[in-house]
Amino acid sequence: MTCRAGNVAAFIAIAQKLFQSEKLPEAGRGVAARVFERLQTPSDDGTRYDTRYPACDWLDAALAPFIGDDSGFGAAARAIKALGPDIGWARRSSGVNGSDGYIDAHVNGMICGPGGAESRYDVQLGFSLMVPHTRYPDHSHPPEEAYVLFTPGEFRQNGGEWFDPGIGGGIHNVRNNPHAMRSGDVPFLAIWCLLTRDDD
Ligand SMILES: [Fe+2]
Repeated sequence: MTCRAGNVAAFIAIAQKLFQSEKLPEAGRGVAARVFERLQTPSDDGTRYDTRYPACDWLDAALAPFIGDDSGFGAAARAIKALGPDIGWARRSSGVNGSDGYIDAHVNGMICGPGGAESRYDVQLGFSLMVPHTRYPDHSHPPEEAYVLFTPGEFRQNGGEWFDPGIGGGIHNVRNNPHAMRSGDVPFLAIWCLLTRDDD
């Protein structure tokens, strides 16, 4: 049986609580519950996406406002820092309406999922990081997904109005739901989880 590293276990335990917040849409809590049920079983094929990108340098700045807090966000920030080089990094280069230079201005950190600290294919648990004044492209994907926002920032779904769910709030995307996010004056960080295999 695959053994789970302590830093991964610590992040999963904290994230699980944050995804059960009443501030999330009920369906978001529902998809997260199924993700964390699958995560009870460790699974890792050892693949690591260890290339770093320019926006990785913004991680400390994004976490700094709450990393010392006695809160779930503070604990999550410290857990992300403790993952360090085990985080798998990737960037989105497809989609429309991304701000100029958005490719260098964002990065996605995979914790549980392909190329992440626990590389697996049945779920994804990770985060998106954007530098200030960045708009992520409109995108959609077959898996259902939930986000929890850690910083000021806004989301948009299905071409609707931009909205700020508040720190600790989030969104739920049904399958193939177009969505985007954008940062304001400060770096943006949101964690997400997806069910990437629909077999139960
Ligand atoms: Fe997404």
